[in-house]
Amino acid sequence: MNQDDKKRAAGEAAVEYVKPGSIVGVGTGSTVNYFIDALEPIKSQIKGAVSSSEASTERLKALGIEVFDANDVASLDVYVDGADEINARKHMIKGGGAALTREKIVAAIADKFICIIDDTKHVDVLGEFPLPVEVIPMARSYVARELVKLGGDPCYRQGVVTDNGNVILDVHNMKIQDPKALEDTINGIAGVVTVGLFANRGADVVLTGTENGVQKIA
Ligand code: A5P
Repeated sequence: MNQDDKKRAAGEAAVEYVKPGSIVGVGTGSTVNYFIDALEPIKSQIKGAVSSSEASTERLKALGIEVFDANDVASLDVYVDGADEINARKHMIKGGGAALTREKIVAAIADKFICIIDDTKHVDVLGEFPLPVEVIPMARSYVARELVKLGGDPCYRQGVVTDNGNVILDVHNMKIQDPKALEDTINGIAGVVTVGLFANRGADVVLTGTENGVQKIA
């Protein structure tokens, strides 16, 4: 079983959390793409989706699944998304696909965050994966200097503009011992739109694709 097979297994397993008649929150990335594909056979049983990126919206619409504006939805039962790293407390680093801000918004609207990953994503301490930070373009240098003061090594993700028209700084060499505090600190820097730490609102259920099937942590 390769990494893609594990991602597919996790994505398909998440379908059981989708309630008939509901609108489902949909994340972004290669694992979520398997989840979206697995929604196709049950699309007549759901109202539709709220999406966290233009890429997921396009994929959902191509399968005939209606996509609602987040402003028109009061609540969501579940939000299903991948992660770049996750620790034992279900805190995550996300944003490898640059969709972190919309992901955080849709996650905030949802009652339950279902995280779908392959088994390479589990870590003891977050930070081996460079921490993405979405930044207003004119604040890029200032925010980078502030991130250096926090002990990080920010790197401008060249050529990437987010769906919101902003830029991404990837912060290397962070050993994140207190993810909740660091999330608050980085979100407090002027010009930061959001940091890709999902700790104050972590995952509720983790579905991990492994050699031995999908393992669930709830
Ligand atoms: C997108 O911005 C990310 O947060 C993704 O959820 C994360 O990068 C996981 O992506 P994969 O499922 O492609 O590994």
